[in-house]
Amino acid sequence: VRSPVDAVAARAVIAVCKPMLPSADHLLPYLRSIDASRQYANRGPLVRGFEARLAHHAGGSADQIAVAANATAALTAILLSLDIPRGRSCMVPAWSFAASAHAVVQAGLIPWFVDVSASDGALCPESAECLASHAPGHLGAVLAVSPFGLPVPVNSWESFRHRTGVPVVVDAAAAFDSVRVSSLPTAVSLHATKALGVGEGAFVAWDDPAGVQAVRERINFGFSGSREAIVLATNAKLSEYSAAVGLAALDQWRATRAALRAVAREYSAALAGLDVEMQPGFGRQWISATTIVRVPLGSLAAVVDGLTEAGIETRRWWGDGLARQRAFAAFPRTALPVTSDLAATTVGLPCWPDLPSEAIRSTGRVIGARLERGATVR
Ligand SMILES: Cc1ncc(COP(=O)(O)O)c(C=O)c1O
Repeated sequence: VRSPVDAVAARAVIAVCKPMLPSADHLLPYLRSIDASRQYANRGPLVRGFEARLAHHAGGSADQIAVAANATAALTAILLSLDIPRGRSCMVPAWSFAASAHAVVQAGLIPWFVDVSASDGALCPESAECLASHAPGHLGAVLAVSPFGLPVPVNSWESFRHRTGVPVVVDAAAAFDSVRVSSLPTAVSLHATKALGVGEGAFVAWDDPAGVQAVRERINFGFSGSREAIVLATNAKLSEYSAAVGLAALDQWRATRAALRAVAREYSAALAGLDVEMQPGFGRQWISATTIVRVPLGSLAAVVDGLTEAGIETRRWWGDGLARQRAFAAFPRTALPVTSDLAATTVGLPCWPDLPSEAIRSTGRVIGARLERGATVR
């Protein structure tokens, strides 16, 4: 006879994240082509082919895409390619992942944490313009972050740049689905946790081929057609093996997208009528590999506890935001009331392409029960 404790231990936990990259069978043709070419690195045929297909996805041409080892390095490479004098500040929304701030510091700039808008968790161009004149020191750039794949308002950021002269770089790490080539240099992550993953990887989309070429130099030792480093740089190229995974993942993108869209829609149904907010347009205009919800202030701990007890894993993907992390303690910031609220009310629910419908319905039921209990207590 099992004790209740054993029963709990035996129950399978529903993981918050369970990536599904292409299988070995789907990779095989691409791996065979590596065997044939014997080119394993340094922008080989698979990397070039992957860039061409990413360009098609993002509505541009192959010279407007540069793949890289990860989005953190890609963001740094973009910032370096803009030749912003070291020591200038870079406006960064405090509601983001650690990588955004690391990338700025690696580019020799000082992150300046600012608050985001309560409606979508993003820094909006209008607020950025109001804030710009209060920057500590000289404002060198703005990093516009897509929260969890929400599309970035490209046209408004382009007008911001025209009006202020301040370059805008887009951290669209989770926005594979909606990314489009534009005049804003944009980095998309291809980490395994993202909608289209290769394990570790990323790409830059930018309508300026000379800019893309400059990014390529910054991830390839600063080389420009010779073995002399002409600019400061790093090595953050994508290998042929990662490109093989990317090509196989693109072959399956329609099915992956449909599966993630179905998950998003099932969550909408399971959470309907509850005091729970999903991201604007999620599952309708765009998809992502995370399902992010907001619950009323004061109820997050009860919701997370309820889900944990039911064997449903959750994750506060961005924790308390950037400004409260020790590594970034010394950097300047504005007041951050919205970021604090978001940190106290936002959580990621299980989200993966073959997440069973029943898991989504259970998640909805547990959240509903916990919110109802909280409402009674109040
Ligand atoms: C907002 C944001 N920026 C940057 C990154 C870094 O991406 P990568 O893991 O490819 O370096 C992430 C990763 O999840 C992210 O969420």
